[in-house]
Amino acid sequence: MATALSRRSFLRLGLTASAALGFSGCAGRGDAPQTRAGDDDSSVSGHAPATEQGRDAVGEGSTAEMPKTITLNSGYEMPTQGLGTYALDYDTCVGSVRALIEAGGRLIDTAFMYHNEDAVGEGVRTCSVPREELFVTTKLYPNQFADSEAAIEQALKKLDVGYIDLMLLHHPGTGDVEAYRTMERAVAAGKIRSLGLSNWYIEELESFLPQVETVPALVQNEIHPYYQEQDVVPFIQDLGIVVEGWYPLGGRGHNTELLADPELTSIAQVHGVSVPQVILRWNRQRNIVVIPGSSNPEHIAEDLDIHGFSLSDEEMMRISALDRAEKHDWY
Ligand SMILES: NC(=O)c1ccc[n+]([C@@H]2O[C@H](COP(=O)([O-])OP(=O)(O)OC[C@H]3O[C@@H](n4cnc5c(N)ncnc54)[C@H](OP(=O)(O)O)[C@@H]3O)[C@@H](O)[C@H]2O)c1
Repeated sequence: MATALSRRSFLRLGLTASAALGFSGCAGRGDAPQTRAGDDDSSVSGHAPATEQGRDAVGEGSTAEMPKTITLNSGYEMPTQGLGTYALDYDTCVGSVRALIEAGGRLIDTAFMYHNEDAVGEGVRTCSVPREELFVTTKLYPNQFADSEAAIEQALKKLDVGYIDLMLLHHPGTGDVEAYRTMERAVAAGKIRSLGLSNWYIEELESFLPQVETVPALVQNEIHPYYQEQDVVPFIQDLGIVVEGWYPLGGRGHNTELLADPELTSIAQVHGVSVPQVILRWNRQRNIVVIPGSSNPEHIAEDLDIHGFSLSDEEMMRISALDRAEKHDWY
């Protein structure tokens, strides 16, 4: 893993700060002020542009909580807590989407590779909340990059929810720049609202960003207490790009040790909450959007219910010390 670069190093890549924090190509941007993850509640409207001070205040962990929605660099508003749908079969996925929405959640993450975009679409279409209040993310897999235009059409058809709020490239791969440019054209055509990347780290971003017009709105990477990305997270946030964590609870099938961690258990007991709630709250105090996956409506409601307590600086540091650079998946 590369070490973090300073903003000065990024500028050496040939991107000016205004190019990095100013944006092109996304519908809606003209009307909305630009911001970054880490602003306070004023981010919903009329907020100030990103500042170094903004990140220092909350970027790497503080007792301040991330707002419930943030404005992406595309100008669109995005909820900061949601549901991941990896490994959920059709019926389970529809049920989880409905449970999320009933519990007040508005953000849903899917992907071509999860084979459940159609189920997410059904959950969205058949719920009691208007489409515009929901935020649906999907992803193009590298084996789709060669014909990304058809892949975008396929995602729109499977989801059948009118437009895609956020589309990510799932992994770096052959043809990723051209696939991203195709997504940029789909934004201009009103089919997608915001663009992002997944599994892009510092070196990958250094290589990718100078080749595209639109600064990604969001980067989604593996983040949990045993794999914290303490260098990558501030690097990305300093670019005005929102960070979203996948496997926030260690990953389905990989989380037995994490959810029984003695340090996390002791912090959870102090606050009278569960270990998943502590982990999700820790992410939010680092300004990281969370999308825990769940097939269980009780878990889904519990995972949203993380606003009644706050982790102290000392507790944030204790969790920070759990980092083992231990990835729970290969990418
Ligand atoms: N971009 C990428 O490459 C990538 C890779 C992997 C995942 N993702 C995204 O990230 C999302 C999250 O990852 P994930 O779903 O694999 O793993 P995760 O969110 O880290 O963990 C999910 C596991 O935690 C359990 N769980 C959830 N809430 C719980 C609670 N309150 N108490 C106890 N257990 C709880 C779930 O079981 P129950 O079903 O019983 O609740 C499931 O076994 C995915 O769904 C997907 O959308 C993206």
